[in-house]
Amino acid sequence: MSTTYRSISWNPNKRRYDLVAVSTIVAFLVIVTALQAALRPELTIETLLIRALGAAAFTLLQVILCIGPLSRLDRPFLPLLYNRRHLGVMMFTLAFAHGLFSIVQFHTGGTLNPLVSVLVSNDRYGTIAQLPFQPFGLAALMILFVMAATSHDFWLHNLTAPVWKALHMCVYGAYALILSHVMFGVFQGEISRILGWALCAGVLTVFTLHLVAARHEAMRDRENTNVKKDGFVDVCAVDEIPEKRAVVTCLSGERVAVFRYDGRISAISNVCQHQNGPLGEGRIVNDCVVCPWHGYEYQPATGASPAPFTEKVPTFDVRVRAGRVLVHPQPHAPGTRVEPAVLIEARTA
Ligand code: HEM
Ligand code: FES
Repeated sequence: MSTTYRSISWNPNKRRYDLVAVSTIVAFLVIVTALQAALRPELTIETLLIRALGAAAFTLLQVILCIGPLSRLDRPFLPLLYNRRHLGVMMFTLAFAHGLFSIVQFHTGGTLNPLVSVLVSNDRYGTIAQLPFQPFGLAALMILFVMAATSHDFWLHNLTAPVWKALHMCVYGAYALILSHVMFGVFQGEISRILGWALCAGVLTVFTLHLVAARHEAMRDRENTNVKKDGFVDVCAVDEIPEKRAVVTCLSGERVAVFRYDGRISAISNVCQHQNGPLGEGRIVNDCVVCPWHGYEYQPATGASPAPFTEKVPTFDVRVRAGRVLVHPQPHAPGTRVEPAVLIEARTA
């Protein structure tokens, strides 16, 4: 959150996250290289490295794709989501090293430009089983490069959130290209069949998790249809909202976070302006709702970030009647001040 952009500063949690990720990747590379060396002693160290790096990049990509649905299904996975971009950059680094070593190993010996050689060294484009598999890897690597290069908040702010999000959805295109890269490699005997089966299991896991999470979200987003007088909707009892926390409901197709704090109730959009984080899962600290993902802050009565920051989310009219919280489904423009419902007055009204 910032007047221009706000880089989310380093903290001990982020360092721990990166340390665990890097250690796991190094352990993966060592184990896979050692296993292959033991099983296939004829392979050169270059080939062992190329394979281990490719397998590590591909496995990490599958993990990254599973984090989104897992964190929607169960809160303990949320911490994995906060710094998922770091994993993305690590994955690109592994994929880049794999691509670079492959090009050096297989495409620098001739007279052709190595990149051209990736595209034309196998020219059986007319056959399915023999279709060149390396160009798929090259295309995926180019997409991953654009994503890694624009992963910083600077680009999120300058490209705007919708453009940045659309750009980063290209990860699914890169995933499809990498699947083709590995699949055609397996067909041509260049990549082991075991990896082919591991790939099928991975794809099945990614798809199943996405389907289950989508179903779960659709059930959560079922419209609250308890319309009361004057168009206000009955959301919950006052006592169901924990102090400084929120209850999330779905009104007019949008998720709304209804916060209780210091004897007052306010309702704002549940969607953080940074990366669509769930504000209703955050807490109120120092009079501001703090997004649970990266800490952007919003004042509950105005939906605006405290100065000098400029982020704003829509606000909603709130009433309290007979111990029930009622919210009007029509949102106010982002940043519009709405008087909070005061609990004492409401109870005596
Ligand atoms: C310039 C881009 C790329 C080139 C030239 C390339 C080339 C190759 C080659 C030649 C192999 C066969 C290695 C061997 O068995 O000796 C291979 C395997 C593989 N590649 Fe790529 N690749 C590229 C990009 C990628 C990317 C972006 C990924 C995934 C993120 C990837 C994942 C894999 C995997 C998982 C294998 C199988 C490794 C194994 O056999 O254990 N590749 N690639
Ligand atoms: S602070 Fe990043 S999504 Fe809210």
